[in-house]
Amino acid sequence: MPKLNINYKKPIVMSIGGSLIVPNGGPDVEFLRSLKKLIDIQIKKGRRIVIVTGGGKTARHYVHAAEALRPNKIASEDLDWLGIHATRLNGHLLRTIFREVAHPIVIKNPTITPIRWKGKVLIAAGWKPGWSTDYVACRIAKRLGSSTVLNVSNVDHVYNIDPRKYKNAKPAEDMKWKDYRSIVGNEWSPVKSAPFDPVASKFAHKNHMEVAIIHGENMDNVQKLLDGKDFIGTILH
Ligand code: UTP
Repeated sequence: MPKLNINYKKPIVMSIGGSLIVPNGGPDVEFLRSLKKLIDIQIKKGRRIVIVTGGGKTARHYVHAAEALRPNKIASEDLDWLGIHATRLNGHLLRTIFREVAHPIVIKNPTITPIRWKGKVLIAAGWKPGWSTDYVACRIAKRLGSSTVLNVSNVDHVYNIDPRKYKNAKPAEDMKWKDYRSIVGNEWSPVKSAPFDPVASKFAHKNHMEVAIIHGENMDNVQKLLDGKDFIGTILH
């Protein structure tokens, strides 16, 4: 099983998939409860955590509404903006949940993320059209001097070859960026979804970063990853 080398002197950057925060009509309280417990334990260990929130299903409802009035004519940029605002709403929800320990402002622009902040937790959300919060998480990690990002979503592994094309695809414990990027390409599309966004992958590859792909339903497993122990998931490097 893979293991991530975490530098605890730097904040730990976690990108939390919106599909976990808002899987359908509204926020998943049980998931948020388990996330809060996880973060509280990590804080007690003296660690600082950056949480980047994905958008989840909220944007889909808004896109459907826009589609009803403007069929097949929604600009890709507007699809992204609806997504960005969904990520920001989730960011504010987490800022509310972590009020006592979190920096009071939800970060929207990763390039001006404070290097030091009051509290143990920093919350960030979507920035600009053209990528996902995976990219935002990588930008923040780089700015804070950390070379690792945890991608907690509803994907438990990356497959060694494209599972949409090959039936014999197997879950990989680790994978080189070169191989992963040959599957997902370089282009951003708000409707296509990959375990880790192609634009973020290009940035992470260029900056020699490691990204752990892990499912969020098993928080004991996420706790193991955060503690530098063997975990079930994939390391992209
Ligand atoms: P994410 O794709 O990061 O959220 O942002 P998510 O819900 O976790 O997505 P999954 O579960 O990984 O599929 C939602 C949408 O917001 C826009 C994109 O359209 C993205 O698909 N977005 C987000 C941006 O355009 N720019 C950003 O900086 C962040």
